[in-house]
Amino acid sequence: MKNIFKKYESNVRSYCRNFPVKFKTAKNDQLITTEGDVYTDFLAGAGTLNYGHNNNKIKRKVLKYIESDGPIHGLDMYTEAKEEFLINFVSTILNKRNMKYKVQFPGPTGTNAVETALKIARKVTGRKNVISFTNGFHGCTLGSAAVTGNSHFRVGTAVSLPDTTFMPYEGFLGKDVDTTDVMLKMLEDSSSGVDKPAAVILETVQGEGGLNAASKKWLQRVERICRKFDILLIVDDIQAGCGRTGKFFSFEGMGISPDIVTLSKSLSGYGLPMSLVLMKEELDVWKPGEHNGTFRGHNLAFVAASAAIKEYWSDDRFELKIAKKSQLIRSRFQEIIDSSNSGNMRIKGRGMMIGLDCRNGDFAEKVTARCFKRNLIIERSGTNDEIVKCLAPLTITESNLKKGLDIISESVSEVSKTMKPEKILSVV
Ligand SMILES: Cc1ncc(COP(=O)(O)O)c(C=O)c1O
Repeated sequence: MKNIFKKYESNVRSYCRNFPVKFKTAKNDQLITTEGDVYTDFLAGAGTLNYGHNNNKIKRKVLKYIESDGPIHGLDMYTEAKEEFLINFVSTILNKRNMKYKVQFPGPTGTNAVETALKIARKVTGRKNVISFTNGFHGCTLGSAAVTGNSHFRVGTAVSLPDTTFMPYEGFLGKDVDTTDVMLKMLEDSSSGVDKPAAVILETVQGEGGLNAASKKWLQRVERICRKFDILLIVDDIQAGCGRTGKFFSFEGMGISPDIVTLSKSLSGYGLPMSLVLMKEELDVWKPGEHNGTFRGHNLAFVAASAAIKEYWSDDRFELKIAKKSQLIRSRFQEIIDSSNSGNMRIKGRGMMIGLDCRNGDFAEKVTARCFKRNLIIERSGTNDEIVKCLAPLTITESNLKKGLDIISESVSEVSKTMKPEKILSVV
């Protein structure tokens, strides 16, 4: 049954094509195959395993809960596990940041949270249009795909995707253009053709779109425009949240206060499906059961999420560790850039959501393929998959982090020898 995946699993499968080995076990920053080969994981479930694979501290709580016959599935009924999660989330995450939100648990994936956020904004304002940004990625169901820029995913829906207006993200029109001027003009001028939107949805660091990290100034200007025109601001923190950029929320310290926030991926801390939507209190206009879903109350995920919050967010020690590792990656990437003769590589992203922009998808593909040969799992992102994207678990050991960075360095220098710099320079 060696080829069972190829034979029976749909062509839609994707990550496994770049990493065609079979994994049996996983621990923190390592994945181990059936043959016993050890891979360092710089993909971390596309940002779902911020606390690593099978984190012991979380696992103990999960196993204890299963042993105790705690309800695993509970629709949205009250359970002790949900109560404990809410207590922890409100006291350790929200209250410490002076944030006041109501919490909604939609279906367990990121795209469920985005669909919910869009629905709330449209329901509250009675408007249909939503502004989203070039290179934004928000999921593959229809509402989320409609606010996603990448044509690969848009075409995949095979239907028209209405009620969205795209605006240029920061940097999309070159470094000298403040794209919020474009947005402001389009909203101010009643002949621009842009219908007044219910909401603006954005990622503060665009994960799939190429690690474009918005500046504080740009985010504040977007928020000011939202306030001026009475538009709700949605921050999709599904990939950038839960510590990935250095703080629990990626917009912390940016001086903005989103009306709605979506979280998923690393929220449960253990790779268990879970998502939530935070909304300012006055936006909670739902009628009971009006937005529904069978898997809204995944109690095992609540247990794991509570454990992760208690373990990592009760004080600032974890944030300090992330800052140290971010700096290590950044300076190592700078060394790689300085020592390669490829011309115009650059670093993109923020915190431990950071990548090496190779400016050329073929180059980046060769780099990640060589990394895989050296037992490092790392993916790419960006319009042409030109960014080598480092999403190592935040809990990665310093030695494995250094080992992975060495592998990237060796791979880049190997590819630099085989590809002409002109080719690298030609795609900008
Ligand atoms: C920013 C962002 N929003 C939404 C999603 C969709 O999440 P899911 O794949 O769980 O539906 C993703 C997934 O990568 C994402 O990065």
